[in-house]
Amino acid sequence: MGGHTIWRHRGWSLSSRILLLGKNGQVGWELQRALAPLGQVTALDRSGSDGLCGDLTDLDGLAATVRQLRPDLIVNAAAHTAVDKAESEPEVAERLNAEAPAVLAREAAALGATLVHYSTDYVFDGSGQIPWLEDHPTGPLSVYGRGKLAGEQAIRESGCSHLIFRTSWVYAARGGNFAKTMLRLAAERERLTVIDDQWGAPTGADLIADVTAHAIRHLRSRPQDAGTYHLAAGGFTTWFSYATHVLETARKMAPTKALAVKDIAPVATEAFPLPAPRPRNSRLNTQRLQSTFDLMLPPWQQGVDRMLAEIL
Ligand SMILES: NC(=O)c1ccc[n+]([C@@H]2O[C@H](COP(=O)([O-])OP(=O)(O)OC[C@H]3O[C@@H](n4cnc5c(N)ncnc54)[C@H](OP(=O)(O)O)[C@@H]3O)[C@@H](O)[C@H]2O)c1
Repeated sequence: MGGHTIWRHRGWSLSSRILLLGKNGQVGWELQRALAPLGQVTALDRSGSDGLCGDLTDLDGLAATVRQLRPDLIVNAAAHTAVDKAESEPEVAERLNAEAPAVLAREAAALGATLVHYSTDYVFDGSGQIPWLEDHPTGPLSVYGRGKLAGEQAIRESGCSHLIFRTSWVYAARGGNFAKTMLRLAAERERLTVIDDQWGAPTGADLIADVTAHAIRHLRSRPQDAGTYHLAAGGFTTWFSYATHVLETARKMAPTKALAVKDIAPVATEAFPLPAPRPRNSRLNTQRLQSTFDLMLPPWQQGVDRMLAEIL
């Protein structure tokens, strides 16, 4: 086999230029790995690199980065994800979650590049019990949800080729996460109370990144499949059942780990008042993604157990 062959396939090649923003977030970190085989990745965090701006609050700087790099693909994993803080700094949240994606979309459209972006279950109002479809009516309850929805809409209206993945309850082994918090509290306290009336699917950043890479490859031969997709692990749970699963699994995987907790009690959302209202029903119907890209989304427990094996 020739070592210098560059495969060309309907306009793309292994020399594709990829711009990744938000490289150190949960999803961004995993994308650094998953995108690596797809092209030349320039990965930026907010401090930028080599004179390239990666700060999503600097809209001119962001546009200049795209114009200088001329990427074939832009993957935006950066966002204002502090949902409670967003209530008290709506302008910053709007800048990051709505205006910056609009700039990226405008620049992608001008270049003929594809934009990959992430959105959230928070675009829905959380009513009912039916898993949301991509075209169900939205109704965000919070500044974060409204900003993310505005970001989606700007991308769709720009006319650029895009993939928008709405996901939910993201965790990663790296950094803080719900499972780690539960394990810490379970080591300190005999009784825990956990919300049992919000439903969703814990979704690993590694799964999101891998599905992203598969979808990008798919799009290169079927560009007509660009669009908005729900991307979450299989099945549904509540925070209470998720916590119970984490602690039961921890006891099996690490029987010598000292856990003080004797009782975990389910409580209603009202037990933990927070600035940003949470959707009760964050169930996402992922059939469109699975059938379009011929992928299977594994049960949420699979990724959580793998993460637990890493951190315990
Ligand atoms: N986390 C969830 O449960 C969840 C659920 C549904 C959807 N999503 C969506 O999934 C995507 C990825 O989320 P994630 O969980 O990976 O979030 P994350 O871990 O909070 O990462 C977000 C990244 O954005 C960066 N960032 C913040 N302000 C920035 C700025 N001004 N310029 C450039 N970068 C900036 C952060 O950098 P610093 O670390 O320096 O602040 C961080 O690396 C987001 O679009 C989010 O809305 C997340």
